[in-house]
Amino acid sequence: MNHFELREGELFCEGVPLARIAGTVGTPVYVYSSATLERHFTVLRTALVEAGLRDEAGGAPLIAYAVKANSNLAVLATLARLGAGADTVSEGEIRRALAAGVPPERIVFSGVGKLAGEVRFALESRISEINVESEPEMRLIAEVAQDLGRPARIAFRVNPDVAAGGHAKIATGGADNKFGVSFSEAERLYAEAAGHPWLEPVGLTCHIGSQISRLEPMEAAFLRMRELAERLRRRGLAVRRLDLGGGLGVPYFNQPEPPAPAAYAAMIARVMAGLDIGLAFEPGRVIAANAGILLARVLHIHERPEGRRFVVLDAAMNDLIRPAMYDAYHAIRPVRPRPGAVAIADVVGPVCETGDTFTRDRELPPLEAGDLVAFMSAGAYGASMASEYNSRLLVPEVLVRGEEWAVVRPRPTYEEMLARETPPPWLDQA
Ligand code: LLP
Repeated sequence: MNHFELREGELFCEGVPLARIAGTVGTPVYVYSSATLERHFTVLRTALVEAGLRDEAGGAPLIAYAVKANSNLAVLATLARLGAGADTVSEGEIRRALAAGVPPERIVFSGVGKLAGEVRFALESRISEINVESEPEMRLIAEVAQDLGRPARIAFRVNPDVAAGGHAKIATGGADNKFGVSFSEAERLYAEAAGHPWLEPVGLTCHIGSQISRLEPMEAAFLRMRELAERLRRRGLAVRRLDLGGGLGVPYFNQPEPPAPAAYAAMIARVMAGLDIGLAFEPGRVIAANAGILLARVLHIHERPEGRRFVVLDAAMNDLIRPAMYDAYHAIRPVRPRPGAVAIADVVGPVCETGDTFTRDRELPPLEAGDLVAFMSAGAYGASMASEYNSRLLVPEVLVRGEEWAVVRPRPTYEEMLARETPPPWLDQA
């Protein structure tokens, strides 16, 4: 469910007409709904709590929102106020989470290539846990911890060898991809870390992929995680937390309906039944995707006499890379629908490459030059993956709350874009 709805013939975000935002900020622009963000977070937490799942202290499980999905500070702060934690993969993301008011004890740091400086920053910030993805990384964390004189709370990211996800590029849990340690490595390293003066292993984590539409692969992976936790405990090692990743999919309209949060929570309760352990989760897409749209304007309709019809927008692949990168489908809705029959078209942006095609042969409602359209389900991995390719200005972001709205990242000016770069002294004519 989301809060982008037609009211008297035009598309609104909560109580704000999208056309008003486009008129003030210009297009392209991302628009997010606070109500949808809050609803998605709350529905997930309620489902987990009602299924009887808990954190180590007996409270609601930690929901560490995956900052990479949408890292705007206003989005993070909206979720932080509800009690969300943050799953981060860089010092930049940790800094964003802290700046948005996420308490350090709810921040988790993942990623296969952490830098010594990032580990130091994470330890100095006293975040909840650093997820270890390999043996050399464990050694690096131990060294930094010793150097700082502060033990590191770590969890081992285990690769459960169950790959899942909507596209090969977003499956993370197969044994042949770069993420996490194998089961045998996990057992050996966990025992070593438990005896190490500067490491404090608190648990295990996994992430098998994103946009997962079936519960079976998750169930298989989570069962393996439980078995590993039990094996470690039988050896007398403390395992307090399981951080269960594998992102629930969202309906992108052309895909199978993903499992409901309640069914997901019930599956986890079944797999973990009788095991006294704290649980944590790292959802990104399921919270942010349907809470955002990319608003764009039709520049013109180019109809070739031979038959192909192109709808050319002012948004491009640099603003929303998902169709080019993952062949992703985003519904495209006119902001003020016109009467008339649907027609087939390719929807493209102005960037100079063929990959700048949002969709081909899509049946679309009537559109004319100047019309506004909304790419639906663009709140996750939209703005956070945007670039300035073709020297297009970085796309701005707006957050709506009821009848109010605010620009939460303005469109930069060309002067700002150019001012970031400095000529080398031998070319500086000034
Ligand atoms: N935790 C870890 C360690 C992850 O690698 C990811 C996503 C998440 C959490 C969040 O997963 P989610 O709940 O969003 O599925 N750019 C791609 C998605 C890449 C996801 C990578 N990892 C896309 O646009 O589809």
